[in-house]
Amino acid sequence: MQIGTPLSANATRVMLLGSGELGKEVIIALQRLGVEVIAVDRYQNAPGHQVAHRAYTIDMTDDKALRDLIAQEKPHLIVPEIEALNTSTLADIEAAGIATVIPTVKAVQLTMNREGIRKLAAEELNLPTSAYAFARSEAELQAAIDGANGDAGIGYPCFIKPTMSSSGKGQSRITNASEVKIAWDYAATGGRVNQGVVIVEGQIDFDYEITLLTVRAKNAAGDIQTYFCEPIGHVQEKGDYVESWQPQAMTSGALAESKRIAKAVTDSLGGLGLFGVELFIKGDKVWFSEVSPRPHDTGMVTMCSQRFSEFDLHARAILGLPVDVSLREIGASAVIYGGHATRNLVFDGVEAALAVPNSDIRLFGKPESFVKRRMGVALATGKDITEARTRAKLAASLVKPVVG
Ligand SMILES: Nc1ncnc2c1ncn2[C@@H]1O[C@H](COP(=O)(O)OP(=O)(O)O)[C@@H](O)[C@H]1O
Ligand SMILES: [Mg+2]
Repeated sequence: MQIGTPLSANATRVMLLGSGELGKEVIIALQRLGVEVIAVDRYQNAPGHQVAHRAYTIDMTDDKALRDLIAQEKPHLIVPEIEALNTSTLADIEAAGIATVIPTVKAVQLTMNREGIRKLAAEELNLPTSAYAFARSEAELQAAIDGANGDAGIGYPCFIKPTMSSSGKGQSRITNASEVKIAWDYAATGGRVNQGVVIVEGQIDFDYEITLLTVRAKNAAGDIQTYFCEPIGHVQEKGDYVESWQPQAMTSGALAESKRIAKAVTDSLGGLGLFGVELFIKGDKVWFSEVSPRPHDTGMVTMCSQRFSEFDLHARAILGLPVDVSLREIGASAVIYGGHATRNLVFDGVEAALAVPNSDIRLFGKPESFVKRRMGVALATGKDITEARTRAKLAASLVKPVVG
């Protein structure tokens, strides 16, 4: 493995498609390894734009815009950070031998849409998931919940989500028939790319949920090996992560089953890189929920808890370098929301936040704030999970976003 000199003819070039807070940290990790990084996003001054060698603002669903930029920049690796991409363009680029798509085109294509990944997990790999159905109209949705022709329906409570969405966008949990129309309308308009297709899932009555960061990286012999970080526990509000911690205590049976499921999914998606495998746990029983073929928002805790963060691990893995997934300290993360809709946000109280023992923060530098937009994260370590969580939440609460 050779790494060239950035900004020279022999540079090792990586292009990030999507340059939000997670992409920003991947870029920093790559920069530290001497990689030349090109950050692409749909809006100007995205977090990753601010730390890359070059920054571009294009519509990444537009075949020509994407193709032209790749032809101009000639990246060796293309690293998707978001799902709203023209994946057939990426498939062509890879087939033509122009660049390698991380982790694989198949992974990017299957995970951009809940339908692809759910069918792979449940129907091809036979992994346990919630009961589910896809609906293309409100009537289909109602029928899927009620059941028909002797088939049991999904029933209530259930979750309705756009097939293309993340961070809980367009998602609702409903408990009776009077809510179906609202849920349909919300999902059909709340997705990132409005496809008018929703998934309805039966509710899993879990004890807790985890993200199992799973890394496919080359070992000393040059073979691809699967490594598991310690499980990350998290709390979600309306489908959006608000708090996470590592390690989440688990029974040995649940941990072994989680690893089996994560290995099956990531083996099938293939390639090199880090994946965030989301799992629901009850006792020793584990259900697959979804997977990101890239660093995961709940994994931001690894910036304080692991020897190498999920971003460092992704950078190393995609470059074909060895990884070390060891935990360093018990840690937690808590989200800092914008609290205001403005292009002029100022963070007060940073000194108070950083005076919390063992704490740290990241402010992402997003140019525009919304009330519920994630603008930063607080991190903290502690002697146990309770102490780490308390510190992270306190630090997050002491950062006061105000309109400047
Ligand atoms: N079938 C389900 N049963 C129980 N909880 C669910 C279910 N689906 C989603 N949730 C809750 O909503 C959260 C977000 O759902 P998820 O499918 O991960 O959406 P997103 O892609 O927006 O992250 C989950 O982490 C979980 O807390
Ligand atoms: Mg999720």
